[in-house]
Amino acid sequence: MSSATENMFNRHEDVASRVRSLMDQMTLAEKIGQMCQLEATHGYAPDYLGERLRAGQVGSVINIVDVDAVNELQRIATEESRLGIPLLVGRDVIHGFKTVFPIPLGQAATWNPDLVEEGARVAALEAATTGVNWTFAPMVDISRDPRWGRIAESFGECVLLTSELGAAMVRGFQGEALDDNGSIAACAKHFAGYGAVESGRDYATTNIPDTKLRNVYFKPFKACIDAGVSTLMTSFSDLNGIPATGNSYILTDVLRGEWGFDGFVVSDWDSVRQLQVHGLTENDSESAYEAATAGVDMEMAGDAYSNHLAEHVESGRVDLAAIDAAVARILTIKFELGLFEASQTDPGSLPDIASKRALDAARTAATQSAVLLKNDHDILPLQRAALNSIAVIGPLADARYEQLGTWIFDGDEELSVTPWHAIRDFVGDDVELQYVRAMENSRSRANDEFHRAVEAASKSDAVLLFLGEESILSGEAHSRADIGLPGDQVELVRRVRAAGRPVIAVILAGRPLTLSDIVDEVDAILYAWHPGAMGGPAIADLLFGVESPSGKLPATFPRMVGQIPIYYSQKNGGKPPTQENVVHIDDIDAFAPQTSFGMSAFHLDTCFTPLFPFGHGLSYTTFEYHNIRASHEEIRLGDVVTVSVDLANSGQVEAEEVVQLYTRDLVASLTRPVKELKGFRRVRLQPGATETISFDLHTDDLAFFGRDGQRTVEPGLFHAWIGGSSDAAQRTEFRIIAPDSVTGVNA
Ligand code: NOJ
Repeated sequence: MSSATENMFNRHEDVASRVRSLMDQMTLAEKIGQMCQLEATHGYAPDYLGERLRAGQVGSVINIVDVDAVNELQRIATEESRLGIPLLVGRDVIHGFKTVFPIPLGQAATWNPDLVEEGARVAALEAATTGVNWTFAPMVDISRDPRWGRIAESFGECVLLTSELGAAMVRGFQGEALDDNGSIAACAKHFAGYGAVESGRDYATTNIPDTKLRNVYFKPFKACIDAGVSTLMTSFSDLNGIPATGNSYILTDVLRGEWGFDGFVVSDWDSVRQLQVHGLTENDSESAYEAATAGVDMEMAGDAYSNHLAEHVESGRVDLAAIDAAVARILTIKFELGLFEASQTDPGSLPDIASKRALDAARTAATQSAVLLKNDHDILPLQRAALNSIAVIGPLADARYEQLGTWIFDGDEELSVTPWHAIRDFVGDDVELQYVRAMENSRSRANDEFHRAVEAASKSDAVLLFLGEESILSGEAHSRADIGLPGDQVELVRRVRAAGRPVIAVILAGRPLTLSDIVDEVDAILYAWHPGAMGGPAIADLLFGVESPSGKLPATFPRMVGQIPIYYSQKNGGKPPTQENVVHIDDIDAFAPQTSFGMSAFHLDTCFTPLFPFGHGLSYTTFEYHNIRASHEEIRLGDVVTVSVDLANSGQVEAEEVVQLYTRDLVASLTRPVKELKGFRRVRLQPGATETISFDLHTDDLAFFGRDGQRTVEPGLFHAWIGGSSDAAQRTEFRIIAPDSVTGVNA
């Protein structure tokens, strides 16, 4: 055993025995107290929570970020309660604390786990200055419906990308050790299936077959657990008829039984009592029973546990051992955080808020998150020296708050540098700038200022249109049925276009929007998501070519809402669409007889392809992929195949490319997706340079959960693609063979 492992082992042993001896002294009421989280938003928390703390009735508080008040609560808990157990202090730190980073969906577009980890680390360091020691992130719900407002908080549609970035975020929050100054416990949420809510309506129901739960929705949670996440949060949603908060299959059978998760599970906000609203229980008492026996260790912001759990234990309906197990898990995290040694926070012991490290990381994240969707005639980057005048138009060019995005309770708007300010700084006196906001906000229908926008456009050499959605149009409880540009923005684009100048749209949004109405009206589209505080400088750098865009879409962009769900890893079906077997509504003759002969799975009134595929994103250089190959034609189960490609920067500028590996398992006892991302790497290449990029694939990487719910790898043929998007054209293949039919190199 290495000394590091030995220390870790001792620490766990030590914690376990400390938990045991503390629990030996606890009454049932004190144990249940640890399972209760109270909200702290009704005035000065120590005043109204104090008595309950002294009585040992509170394990955690949520939503308090005043360090003096937090310290006072901790003092009361540790000095004035019988057993002196410190508090978990929870807060949503979703994409930065004071220094706001791009929304998680934007961070996903960086395809850069190191950057996501750094963003979470910076956020943890800032949040810890207030005494917060637990955050409710990462959200790792696979999100394949851009109508769902919470897609903004997610890492998008892909299992592998979400898993890798979720694990990176956990590492960032929790650091090397939970008791390091500035580490906070993370919480992977919302277990499970929340992203599959019907029609993207938040809180709606979900129906997900077990094989899909296992092959898609569960996987990012397992990845977070493997990364050491301390806690998990349940979902608000109904899962196959049993709301997640009362679902013992996912919370106990899978989470504890199969995965051996030893952290604790918290409900979502009041979701224990909502079991009654779902129609699963008759009252709060039954809700407490269902949630506790399903495996919810702590109730968030409700009072079903505090009012009713004891009666179930006393009647023998709930086993005391189950309560003990939950409390032990909660106390373990408290010990691991070092709270029994130090529960008071000294902000001075942590880095300053908005440190250079924080702002640099936020700027790099914003830069790498922006996706260049189109760039006709290489209109971008703008050549400062060749331009006399630029018009900057739109409701989101100079909107400090709106560029921050959803869930930024603590975000400091004052730190925001808007695109308008950054562009002004960048061009200085060299270029004449005009700014016309044109619309009050993204939803405005009034177009009386449009003539000023048109006037500015016609006097300029280029037009920068800042469009999109305000922050409030995405996030929790903010789903949309129409995900086009809201308000009169499309009309603004058309009017400005008519001025005849090159038009570059920069879009700030919390989700993929349907852009079909404007895609042909503009020369270039830079999709910046809600880029956070440093969005302005990042966008200016990209527009003027200081940096080359390198973001790649973490979610498919539909042409229209009717295509949803549309995602790259769909199944083939029996009649997959191709250019040859689809018909357009305009090409159907009058009185045409009903026929399905030779036709496929498509909509009559749009293409079967998305507007922009998953993984798409252009650069100011051109990357060419050649010579894809697999190291072996055949491998045995348990072996590794290396898939390689030569990547050339055949353009004029140094730039980064996110190289993506996809595979398809052609024949399996459970049909498999047409493509699955299996690896990705960010690579920086000089113009003219070529580099061989290789990915090692172990046969375990090709496993799936089969009909019986067991993980399996089936021998057979696999296709592999490497490229710059899920539309990658370079393809090779290899075959997995059963151990007893070995031939060739591995024999
Ligand atoms: C409800 C949200 O669903 C969850 O994500 C969040 O962490 C909690 N509220 C706490 O604010």
